[in-house]
Amino acid sequence: MKSAIIFGSGGHARVISAIIHNSYGNISFVGLKADGKNTMAEETFFGSIEQFRQSDIFIGIGANNIRKAVYEKLRQHGITPANCIAANAFVAHDAQLGNGVVVCPGSVIGSGARLGNNTIVNTLSSIDHDCVLGDHSQVTAGVNFGGTTITGENCFFGIHSGTVPNVNIGNNSIVMAGSMVYKDVPENVMVGGNPARIIKSLLEGAE
Ligand SMILES: CC(C)(COP(=O)(O)OP(=O)(O)OC[C@H]1O[C@@H](n2cnc3c(N)ncnc32)[C@H](O)[C@@H]1OP(=O)(O)O)[C@@H](O)C(=O)NCCC(=O)NCCS
Repeated sequence: MKSAIIFGSGGHARVISAIIHNSYGNISFVGLKADGKNTMAEETFFGSIEQFRQSDIFIGIGANNIRKAVYEKLRQHGITPANCIAANAFVAHDAQLGNGVVVCPGSVIGSGARLGNNTIVNTLSSIDHDCVLGDHSQVTAGVNFGGTTITGENCFFGIHSGTVPNVNIGNNSIVMAGSMVYKDVPENVMVGGNPARIIKSLLEGAE
């Protein structure tokens, strides 16, 4: 039976382990040593990359910026992270999934939806028909996207947030927990409330 290696050793790494544990003979974790700036210490992970090539690789890291950095580093080394799809998730036959995608138990990916590379759809969330979840973005637990919601890269949707159909969310933006989005959200902002309004800019140096 094949072996799996999960980059990360915290809660999200264990979520992945629980989903894949019947499919692999051996599952190992690569501990991540984040530095004070919340970025990875590269030499810790990639000094001995050759040992990883015989296994399926998963990225078990919740923080978008760190997960993106690990994904890009793996790709630079010619390694494509595997997808982790819970057995009781529903993924429509015509949905498109990138690489390194995680779809957690009870989630629904609708017809024509597209999940970018290195995305997470957490527990009991729904990504309705024709939605796009951009690369390195994540929806947390209990999030509902109305049809044709289009998100940019590196977006974050807090627990129990949602969108009505046909809204666009800009790159790097955050929708706070419990918030409901009714109109387009620009790039690099945090929105919250129902209806969701801009709470603050996420650009460096912004108030
Ligand atoms: C997005 C988030 C991380 C922002 O945290 P933060 O940057 O520390 O922001 P703060 O808590 O300081 O809140 C900033 C302001 O927004 C307000 N606010 C917080 N949550 C809000 C919400 N859901 N809706 C509207 N306003 C909200 C705060 O009251 C605060 O207002 P103030 O400046 O007038 O006091 C956090 O609100 C959140 O949603 N976390 C969700 C995490 C999650 O879902 N994890 C799931 C893992 S499965």
